[in-house]
Amino acid sequence: MTSLPVLTTSPRLAALPVTIANVGLSYACAGNESLLTGMVRLGRKGIPVGCVNGGCGVCKVRIVEGQIKALGPISRAHVTLDEENQGYTLACRVAPQTPVNLEVAGKLSKPFSKGRAESATASPSIQQQ
Ligand code: FES
Repeated sequence: MTSLPVLTTSPRLAALPVTIANVGLSYACAGNESLLTGMVRLGRKGIPVGCVNGGCGVCKVRIVEGQIKALGPISRAHVTLDEENQGYTLACRVAPQTPVNLEVAGKLSKPFSKGRAESATASPSIQQQ
C-alpha cells in the first residue's frame, strides 16, 4: 500500500536585511518582493512611490553590495547602461537574493535627507566610512 503524498504550500521566502548605507537605516525585505516595497514599510514620510513598474525613475538606488533579482525591465531613460554597470537600478523592479547594502539616489534621497532621519531606527550593524 502506498502512502498519500504530503501536501505543502509553497515556501515563504525569508526576509533578508537591506541596509540603506548612506542614511544609516535598515529594513527587512523578502526575496520575492521589491526593495521599494520593503522600504515603504519603514514608514518614512515622503518615500516616492510612482509607477512601480520601472518607468518613472523616482525609486533609483545604487546597489553597493549584495545580489538582486530583476522583477522586470527598467527604463533606460532613468538608468543608463553605464549607471547600471555602476550598480544603479530601480528599487521597484528588483528583489534581494542576499543581504543588500544600497544607497538611495536622486529623488529617493530627499525623504532620507538630514533632519528627516531622526525618527527612524538606525541599524546597529551599519558601519560608517
Ligand atoms: S516607482 Fe516608478 S520606476 Fe520605480
